[in-house]
Amino acid sequence: MKKKVLVTGGTGFIGSHTVVELLQNGFETIIIDDLRNSQVEVLDRIQKITGIRPSFENFDLCDLPKLQDCCHRYPDIQAVVHFAALKAVGESVEKPLEYYGNNLISMINLLQVMREFKIPNLVFSSSCTVYGQPDLLPVTEHSPVKPANSPYGNTKQISEEIMRDTIAAVEGIKAISLRYFNPIGAHESALIGELPLGTPLNLVPYITQTAIGIREELRVFGNDYDTPDGTGIRDYIDVVDLARAHVKAIERLLNNKTKKNFEVFNLGTGKGLSVLDVVKTFEKATGQKVNYKIYPRRPGDISSVYADTTLANQELGWKADTPLEKTLLSAWNWEKNIRKKQNQ
Ligand code: WQD
Repeated sequence: MKKKVLVTGGTGFIGSHTVVELLQNGFETIIIDDLRNSQVEVLDRIQKITGIRPSFENFDLCDLPKLQDCCHRYPDIQAVVHFAALKAVGESVEKPLEYYGNNLISMINLLQVMREFKIPNLVFSSSCTVYGQPDLLPVTEHSPVKPANSPYGNTKQISEEIMRDTIAAVEGIKAISLRYFNPIGAHESALIGELPLGTPLNLVPYITQTAIGIREELRVFGNDYDTPDGTGIRDYIDVVDLARAHVKAIERLLNNKTKKNFEVFNLGTGKGLSVLDVVKTFEKATGQKVNYKIYPRRPGDISSVYADTTLANQELGWKADTPLEKTLLSAWNWEKNIRKKQNQ
């Protein structure tokens, strides 16, 4: 009997890649997604990659009665992977109430049904934004969590606190919070990737859209940081490597290997790369020129952050080892595939 895993936000960027890995590792998956930031066609693509069509429930997690009904219809769920959340940093500054409402009510509803339906395990999609601008690099899981620099980042911090307190009070629930650094790239099939809805905020989709001619030029936000080439440094992690870490976390929970009922892992490569490092590597990997110009710093950006991945490597038996060139090529192939579909 396959173990059932509920994946909220499972038609999204990281969610869809995780559903593929879960299916390919023998799990049965049920996706809950309200499609506000993804497309239902992703289900066809997951089926094309894996040969299996995941169960799909189309509703908003903030609707508790719908969530309870769903849990009635799918008994014996062994774990939940919770991706569904609003995640645009800048937008969260303009619309804090939407972000606190959506991201926190969905987390609270999820924990309520886990208690009600005795769903024992939770993997949470968290973020390195909880660390703000760290005093020391690389960042470990014991680095201080700093006041968030956006409502989005704050919802990740508060969600972790809600999980921690609930798990301390409620018998039978264990959780792992995965703090992502910068997810990039796409599945090697180029059938799933980061859907470009609107103007990309993140670096790599902006690079691929500039390379394919949709954007005039890449704006490099600041070259006066205290870094080797002056541009911001981040830890860019391949999305498939990231997805595989979720399978490892689920297995750790199901096999009762956790050392505490609430664990946290940094998911990165352990390497810091500058904006210009990424641009140059993209050009080398794809043969495509990227026009760029230096602009002033983007408000809210930190200078440098990259992960100490020792704990995840040791405890999850997992390592992000896809070469950056391969990841950037996958992002480029995805970009070309989307445009091909749009021109059909
Ligand atoms: C990366 C670097 C920019 C765009 C965000 C969220 C974080 C996580 C990952 C969810 C920075 C520079 C970017 C551009 C640029 N998401 N840049 N020109 O801000 O590190 O993190 O996405 O969990 O929570 O905050 O990612 O890709 O926006 O920026 O120069 O057009 O690229 O200044 O140095 P960021 P990013």
